[in-house]
Amino acid sequence: MRRRLIAGNWKMNGSRESLAELDGIAAAAQARPDVDVAICPPFTLIERAVARQSGLAIGGQDCHSAARGAHTGCISAAMLVEAGATLTIVGHSERRSAQHETDAEVKGKAEAAIAAGLTAIVCVGETETQRDAGEAARVVEAQLRGSLPVAGGDALVVGYEPVWAIGTGRTPTVEDVGNMHGLIRTTLRDLLGAERSGAIRILYGGSVTAANAAELLAIADVDGALVGGASLTAAAFVPIIGVAG
Ligand code: PGA
Repeated sequence: MRRRLIAGNWKMNGSRESLAELDGIAAAAQARPDVDVAICPPFTLIERAVARQSGLAIGGQDCHSAARGAHTGCISAAMLVEAGATLTIVGHSERRSAQHETDAEVKGKAEAAIAAGLTAIVCVGETETQRDAGEAARVVEAQLRGSLPVAGGDALVVGYEPVWAIGTGRTPTVEDVGNMHGLIRTTLRDLLGAERSGAIRILYGGSVTAANAAELLAIADVDGALVGGASLTAAAFVPIIGVAG
């Protein structure tokens, strides 16, 4: 049985004051020992977040594939570890589109994260145009095959985030989420074998809120949620943790 993971992605939001939200989130996480809870704040807040709530898993939102070097503005997996992070998101669609990250780059980032001891949440997801063209399954499978590290450990989580559902208040139907998570599970099995793939959690992300979390988390092969907007406050995030058990 895979433990549920509810991960919050603060994106480029939050300040030192926002870290007070972690108190309520950590309390809710403690009250649900059967659920893993993580928050990925901006890099500058990681160390303070860890200091404030050491019981909560704190993660990055990206890392570089290299260990060090001339990469202005980037951060290495080891730097995240030093700051106290235990996981990182890689390949978020906002980076794939705005920073033009390719599947191969995302794979390199995931490999670097796992090698440094982090859990890598590798994100995949189709655009609205791709879904309308009937290409969603093909696109997501290709992203998985191109972005997932197949060697080097199992500290791996997949985040399925349809791009058109992120920050829009729209979500796919229960049937569409179920079909896509089933396809992801099948692809994982093909890439990693039955035993390894069975332990890997597949999160749904895109407009998850307290209002729809229970329905989404009840779908087969939905092992948790990747939450953007609704992770910014304890008031919005705690009810999602509450229905995750
Ligand atoms: P959202 O973002 O919950 O605000 O839609 C999800 C994400 O991009 O991870």
